[in-house]
Amino acid sequence: MKKIIAFAGSNSKNSINQRLIEAISKLIGQHEVEVINLANHAAPVYGIDHEIEYGVPDSIKDLFSIFNTSDAFIVAVPEHNGSMPAVLKNTIDWLSRVESGVKVFREKPVVFISTSPGPRGAQSALNHVVEIMPYRGAVVVGSLSFGSFDSHFVDGEMTAESELLIRPILDKLENSLA
Ligand SMILES: Cc1cc2nc3c(=O)[nH]c(=O)nc-3n(C[C@H](O)[C@H](O)[C@H](O)COP(=O)(O)O)c2cc1C
Repeated sequence: MKKIIAFAGSNSKNSINQRLIEAISKLIGQHEVEVINLANHAAPVYGIDHEIEYGVPDSIKDLFSIFNTSDAFIVAVPEHNGSMPAVLKNTIDWLSRVESGVKVFREKPVVFISTSPGPRGAQSALNHVVEIMPYRGAVVVGSLSFGSFDSHFVDGEMTAESELLIRPILDKLENSLA
């Protein structure tokens, strides 16, 4: 059994992307999933002066250690002003500074998903991360945006139709780890 780290690029306690991550994690059958909340790994805005004076925050070193244990990732990407939220970019920036030569996603398989309240489902942010994260070591297995978040849930549970949308990508991820 391999280990998949799943997280949303959000620090909101009501994050809809975190809710999506939690629902989709339950669909993984063959492997262990560890769901992470970035709010538990808060860090100041990255700056070279801050890094030189204070070093990498312990919250980021902890996250880096968790990433070391992972065989794959599922990442949900919210959209702020057409791109990924600052908290996700900041976390990636800090993670890239922990150990020289170690890429954030470790050349492991990654599924990127996204959602927003509106019909485009954070598609612009999703497109952006799918384009740039291969250079940060993400082997992109697939990506999918869930437009109109509320339409995918009934009584807090993901609908069967929505599960079917993501199923082929999750199967591909699970099979890549077999
Ligand atoms: C500063 C800000 C900018 C936003 N910009 C966008 C945007 O460009 N596109 C979009 O679809 N939603 C945008 N939204 C709405 C987010 O999709 C919505 O807040 C969503 O809940 C964020 O995901 P999260 O709950 O997982 O953090 C924005 C929200 C905020 C607070």
